[in-house]
Amino acid sequence: MNRKYRKTVIAGNWKMNMLNSGIKPFMEELKANMPKNRNCDVVLCAPAIMVPAMIKAGKDCKVAAGAQDVSMYEKGAYTGEISADQLSDVGAKYCIVGHSERRQYHGETDIQVNIKAKALLDKGIVPIICVGESLEQREMDLTMEYVAYQVKTALSGIDAAKLRRCIIAYEPIWAIGTGKTATSEQAQEVCEGIRAVIRKIYGARPARAISILYGGSMNAKNAEELLAQPDIDGGLIGGASLKPADFAKIIEASNQEC
Ligand code: PGA
Repeated sequence: MNRKYRKTVIAGNWKMNMLNSGIKPFMEELKANMPKNRNCDVVLCAPAIMVPAMIKAGKDCKVAAGAQDVSMYEKGAYTGEISADQLSDVGAKYCIVGHSERRQYHGETDIQVNIKAKALLDKGIVPIICVGESLEQREMDLTMEYVAYQVKTALSGIDAAKLRRCIIAYEPIWAIGTGKTATSEQAQEVCEGIRAVIRKIYGARPARAISILYGGSMNAKNAEELLAQPDIDGGLIGGASLKPADFAKIIEASNQEC
């Protein structure tokens, strides 16, 4: 982290877990475990249908609500889709785009990720843009090349003013939900590389100001070491965000001096 230049963000990704009725008890337990002072923004990205309840229950302990995907279309005949306008209308402040599970199970492409990020920015929602390599790509030494391509495509056509409202999440696919975390060195190396890609496009200041999160089996035990890395400005947390006490510990880990 580097709090002098950028925000620390601890974001949970509930994926297709939890129920509306479970949000209030979750927040109560989170509040009870939350550190008194906190140096980060906290977000929970829930299924879109749960966003209003999340906003209501999260007010007390300052947890913002986010969604996990958005339609790339503005409005119209797209049955089942949810637009950026509709997310904004119910109060979502953040939205994940390009999560590897959406790329894998729904064939989402880098171009679509770019369109979705722009749709969110137009409606004042912060896109949390996910990038990350597969195990095969890592083993073939293609990590940085691939991730750089993903970042460049996702940000295409987004100007520096809008970049300030974007968050990047580096999530190596092989580390998601597997219990296999990237080492802090591996995670730092790629997050530093992502910042260098952004520096090349936008210059030093925007690159210094953007928050880059790490995601992939981040938990209460490994969070402190990962967050101590200079280019890791927070976490995108799946499994451990479902347990209030663990999620609170990760928030606490972001309080460390750096
Ligand atoms: P995980 O998920 O923390 O369960 O690995 C992270 C994510 O998919 O965002």
